[in-house]
Amino acid sequence: MTRTLTLRRPDDWHLHLRDGAMLAAVLPETARHFARAIVMPNLVPPVVTTAQASAYRDRILAALPPGSSFEPLMTLYLTEDTDPDDVAQGAARGLIHAVKLYPAGATTNSASGVSDFDRIHPVLERMAKIGLPLCVHGETTDPEIDIFDREAVFIARTLDPIRRAHPGLRVVMEHVTTSDAVDYVTDAGDSLAATITTHHLVINRNHILAGGIRPHYYCLPVAKRETHRRALLRAATSGHARFFLGTDSAPHPDAAKLAPCGCAGCFTATNTLSILAEVFDREDALPNLEAFTSLNGPAFYRLPANEDRITLRRTPPDHPAQIETADGPLTVFDPGFALNWSVAP
Ligand code: DOR
Ligand code: ZN
Repeated sequence: MTRTLTLRRPDDWHLHLRDGAMLAAVLPETARHFARAIVMPNLVPPVVTTAQASAYRDRILAALPPGSSFEPLMTLYLTEDTDPDDVAQGAARGLIHAVKLYPAGATTNSASGVSDFDRIHPVLERMAKIGLPLCVHGETTDPEIDIFDREAVFIARTLDPIRRAHPGLRVVMEHVTTSDAVDYVTDAGDSLAATITTHHLVINRNHILAGGIRPHYYCLPVAKRETHRRALLRAATSGHARFFLGTDSAPHPDAAKLAPCGCAGCFTATNTLSILAEVFDREDALPNLEAFTSLNGPAFYRLPANEDRITLRRTPPDHPAQIETADGPLTVFDPGFALNWSVAP
């Protein structure tokens, strides 16, 4: 039985760090294990210009624990008014690593996102030219469409037309949740990749709704039926170069989760690597864990893989069930099964 596993230090290709006191509370959880992360721009107000992204990066660096070498990779929040020149200048400076497309109203703090997709063609054209990836929240916001079908409908109605209009555009379909998305990415060429979260590898919709409602398992896109989880698991554990880890770790204080209209998001920064090791181990796929956490992401983002290593040991992790924040406790995602792997200090 494998007892230790050494990997290149992982990166998180989709992370919510928030700002202010919440940033200070959650940043150490990611910086402890990860070298870099693609930082989501859905703050209030959103990060829409390179100047705002630069200031946000400075706040993240200032909140890092002493001695940490964690590197935030900044993104811009795409609006119908995004200036292609500003995007190109931010990318040329090495500051901006992606632009995030939220369909307006699709999820947390997405109100400033895109409603009229025709208005974003100039910026997409520029991004295709300079090779800057577009990260996509892939859910339609059409209220007529059932929430469990919104990803598949978005691919057909919105994403595929965008990709046909901009064949050179490099796209990351974020937090895929369906076999439809896995198939779409698998069948595409090198310009399309996908991130997969930790929690979508663990839960299906029964975990959220059967035998009582579990708000800590509610996120967007919402987890789908088991056949879809199995498709995600196959993609993640296969070693396929265009699937990689983006945790979508999304902190909301318990008071905001355990409410009549609770917020979407699972907070997995603390125990993601323990959970992934467990999940890959159960699938007999530990040899492919490094590709998923540490190699495929940098290759797609055209960055070098990290040179330093972490070691996972077959010993149960010891982490708190909750993190204290200025807004009260924040619950760490509970996979619902025992964890046997921990990151060596
Ligand atoms: O569950 C989610 N939480 N999905 C998102 O798309 C946004 C995120 C958040 O910011 O809380
Ligand atoms: Zn997200």
